[in-house]
Amino acid sequence: MADMYKDIERVLVSQEQIAAMVERLGQEITRDYEGKPLVVLGVLKGGFVFMADLVRKIKVPMELDFIAVSSYGSSTKSSGVVKLVKDSDIALTGKHLLIVEDIVDSGLTLSYLKKMFEARNPLSVKICTAFDKPERRKVELKADYYGEIIPDEYVVGYGLDYDSQMRNIPELCILKRSVYEK
Ligand code: IMP
Ligand code: MG
Repeated sequence: MADMYKDIERVLVSQEQIAAMVERLGQEITRDYEGKPLVVLGVLKGGFVFMADLVRKIKVPMELDFIAVSSYGSSTKSSGVVKLVKDSDIALTGKHLLIVEDIVDSGLTLSYLKKMFEARNPLSVKICTAFDKPERRKVELKADYYGEIIPDEYVVGYGLDYDSQMRNIPELCILKRSVYEK
C-alpha cells in the first residue's frame, strides 16, 4: 500500500459504503426538513469531509456554517474538556439547527454543543454524525441521524485524524495499535 496507509491496520468503511450512507442520510434529512428554515453547522476539523458530502445530498434550502471545538491533541483518549474555538454568528431564532459531526465517542463534545446551542433558542437542535461508537459513551447522547455504528477502535480517514495526520484518507480505517500503544 502507498505510504499514506503505513499506519493503517485495515479499512473499516469503504468509499462505496460511505457514499451509500451519505445518500441515505441526505434523503432522510431532506424529507424531515422540507419547508423548514434550516441551519447546518459542521464541527471542525473532523467533520469537514462528511459535511461537504452531506450538504450536497440535502435537497432543501439551508444556511451553512462551521464551528470548531478543541481536539484530542496527539492522544487517542478524550480529555473530557470541551472548548469552543470558533463560533458561528448565524442567528438561530425561528430556525431549525442540525449539527454535523464526524464521530460520537464519549458523547461529551456533542452533549456540550447541544446544550450550548439550545440556549440560543432555535426551533430545534438535532445531531447528524457519520460514525458512532456507542460502547464508549460517558454521557447519554443519541444522534438523531447516524451513518455507521462502529466498534471500539481508534479510526482515521474521511476527515478523522491521528496527530493531525490521515484526514485525507478517503476510507474510514482502523489505526494500527502499535502507533499509539507505545
Ligand atoms: P467525544 O467528545 O468523546 O464524543 O469525541 C468526539 C470527538 O473526538 C470527535 O469529534 C473526534 O474529533 C474525536 N474522536 C473520537 N473518536 C475518534 C477516533 O476514533 N478517531 C479520531 N478522532 C476521534
Ligand atoms: Mg470532531
